[in-house]
Amino acid sequence: MEKIIIEQSKELNGEVVISGSKNSSLPILAATILYSGTYKLSNVPDISDVRTMLKLIESLGGKYSFKNNEVVVDSSEISHYEAPYELVKTMRASVVVWGSLLGRFGKAKISFPGGCAIGDRPVDQHIKGFESIGYSTKISNGYLETKKITSIGGEHFFDLKSVTGCENVILASTLGDKKTILKNCPEEPEVVDLINFLNFCGGKIVKKSDTIEIMPSSSLKAPNKAYKIISDRIEAGTFGVLGCLPGNKIKLKNINSDDLQVPLKIIKKMGTRVDIAKSSITIEGGGEIKPFNIKTESFPGFPTDLQAQFMVAALLANGESKIIEEIFPSRFIHVAELRKLGANIKLKNNTAIVNGVASLNGARMQASDLRASACLILAGIIAKNKSEINRVYHLDRGYEKIDNKLMNLGVKIWREKE
Ligand code: EPU
Repeated sequence: MEKIIIEQSKELNGEVVISGSKNSSLPILAATILYSGTYKLSNVPDISDVRTMLKLIESLGGKYSFKNNEVVVDSSEISHYEAPYELVKTMRASVVVWGSLLGRFGKAKISFPGGCAIGDRPVDQHIKGFESIGYSTKISNGYLETKKITSIGGEHFFDLKSVTGCENVILASTLGDKKTILKNCPEEPEVVDLINFLNFCGGKIVKKSDTIEIMPSSSLKAPNKAYKIISDRIEAGTFGVLGCLPGNKIKLKNINSDDLQVPLKIIKKMGTRVDIAKSSITIEGGGEIKPFNIKTESFPGFPTDLQAQFMVAALLANGESKIIEEIFPSRFIHVAELRKLGANIKLKNNTAIVNGVASLNGARMQASDLRASACLILAGIIAKNKSEINRVYHLDRGYEKIDNKLMNLGVKIWREKE
């Protein structure tokens, strides 16, 4: 295993090209299973979660190539309909093959994904959605076994906005027998990207605010050109936090600022200068960081996947910031690690009160999940002296070449064997 060492790094300056979105790539790769064919995708990030999804597709009988951020999947020989424990346990997002396997085979067997470091992560919304459109699920020996029991289609109202739950039901109904109407759907750009990809391949899906209508298609066919995955708004927000720190000036390239409106509003509240151009944003820290309040919510609200990283800016703010986590109420494992640096954070239920301090001191920290790892990296950059972060494999699940991108901005960062 590797650990990351970081020395305090100031006056960061330069450009970062933001990679393609992890949370778009995963369901879109899963969507290539739905109908036999060859699918080309571009702007796919070279991260370990994408590699895991490609292995999963291969284990089902698919073939792929992955070079220079372009993936070609040939799904014509997919013949299995089971996502085994070994793959689901390494990546919870493997559950997004569930809907595609149902659409292709009328049945699927998925290892039950357990909870994880960010909390208990149930799949009842997936199951209820499948049930409303004609599938039934039983749980047997740790597996979810779902099969078609009647003609596919119908209406479903989600009790809550689940991103992969909704994506799964879209996938399971795209090749259905009759129209499907889904209500109270999440509006994350990644859900929209999946719909756009399916329509690019001949699907007939229309989204009107939080309602999605899926007209059944009998087949899918990808045009010869590649479908371009949207850029990763969470990676952009992570580097955006670095830009907010006094003395730093960072230009984020290959981004869509519309997907980042609420995080950018918070960044401006911190006293940061933000210049938005067509596909880039320049973020320049002010003289001090002003305190701010955030509450995580479904899109267009503030994303839970940026909560831990934004907390780092609050650590040195000139006053008290309040961070409320509404999506995963116990997603605060990073707090105990940040306290090792001298951070002043009080936790009560799903709320963190952060009082800014004058400075932080480097320490040895342990990463627990992907976004917490990014948070600890940012904290290591601002803390005096040297910090060490263990278990960084979490980071490589979702951030492409992050060490290089940080080094290019002037961060003193390297890896050593643990
Ligand atoms: N929920 C249920 N029942 C369900 C599904 C979800 O109660 O059947 C609850 C969850 O416990 C949570 C809320 O609904 O409180 C939202 O969860 P959601 O289902 O939307 O999460 P997800 O689809 O499992 C995706 C992202 C996560 C991101 C969340 C929230 C992917 C592959 N994953 O997860 O990304 O945090 O949406 O936006 O798209 C990450 O990238 O680090 C990450 C964790």
